[in-house]
Amino acid sequence: MKGIETITIGYDKLMYAKCIHNSNILYQDAWKNIQKRKLMDTIMSKMNTSIHGSIIVWWLSQYKMKNTKLLEIGTFCGTNVMAISSILPNVSITTIDLRSDDKRLKGFYSLPANSIEAMKRNRSRLNSEQCPNISFLEMSSTMLHRSLPQQNYELIWIDGDHTTFGPYNDLHYALTVADANTLILMDDVFANDPSNATIAALRYLEADYELNYIFIQKRRNEEKVIAAIIKGNMDHVHPLTKITG
Ligand SMILES: C[S@@+](CC[C@H](N)C(=O)[O-])C[C@H]1O[C@@H](n2cnc3c(N)ncnc32)[C@H](O)[C@@H]1O
Repeated sequence: MKGIETITIGYDKLMYAKCIHNSNILYQDAWKNIQKRKLMDTIMSKMNTSIHGSIIVWWLSQYKMKNTKLLEIGTFCGTNVMAISSILPNVSITTIDLRSDDKRLKGFYSLPANSIEAMKRNRSRLNSEQCPNISFLEMSSTMLHRSLPQQNYELIWIDGDHTTFGPYNDLHYALTVADANTLILMDDVFANDPSNATIAALRYLEADYELNYIFIQKRRNEEKVIAAIIKGNMDHVHPLTKITG
């Protein structure tokens, strides 16, 4: 295991990496285009300031010639997958979230009724011809192992329930559909808090799986990080060293 205290990359350092900087420009442009063309209702303006979209675009764009697969757990307003799909039309995207009438969804951000309505409109757009490479499914991630075909993904973006058992469930599933080429990203982690649900899940599962991971500061001046995880042999060069030098 790579110690969590030792490998944490700051937001600015990563943004200086040329590949991430370029991917960020593409991702920000895609967001602006979605807003300008009113393709989606954006419910929270802060969503595109996190570094995750740029990392996803960078990672998947390395597989240009292949039909790559992205799994997102936690669709929310859908703008993230729509931006990625417009930049990378060769990527087949599966994104899942709780049913619109699930009580847990309403509780998440104390969303007002009009935001729930906006979310429903977005969800129907995701499954329209507007987004031919996106498949949106309404379900809890606890059902993933029963509902999705057993296939490998090049990237799994875990961004659903970050509390209690959510990260364990989602990481456990992700590890069954990950191979050496898969990057697993987990959002909203407090890396130095051993009681944090994602840290607890990583600590538990690394007893069973060989995991390499690093932490990436999510936004400038923010304590929360994104865990970037590779399942594989410790002898391999960590794919993330391409950006960390
Ligand atoms: C932070 S938002 C996702 C944001 C989005 N991934 C992005 O990058 O913009 C978290 C979402 O996870 C969903 N969620 C929470 N628990 C879930 C579960 N058990 N299964 C699937 N989705 C879940 C919530 O409904 C919420 O919409």
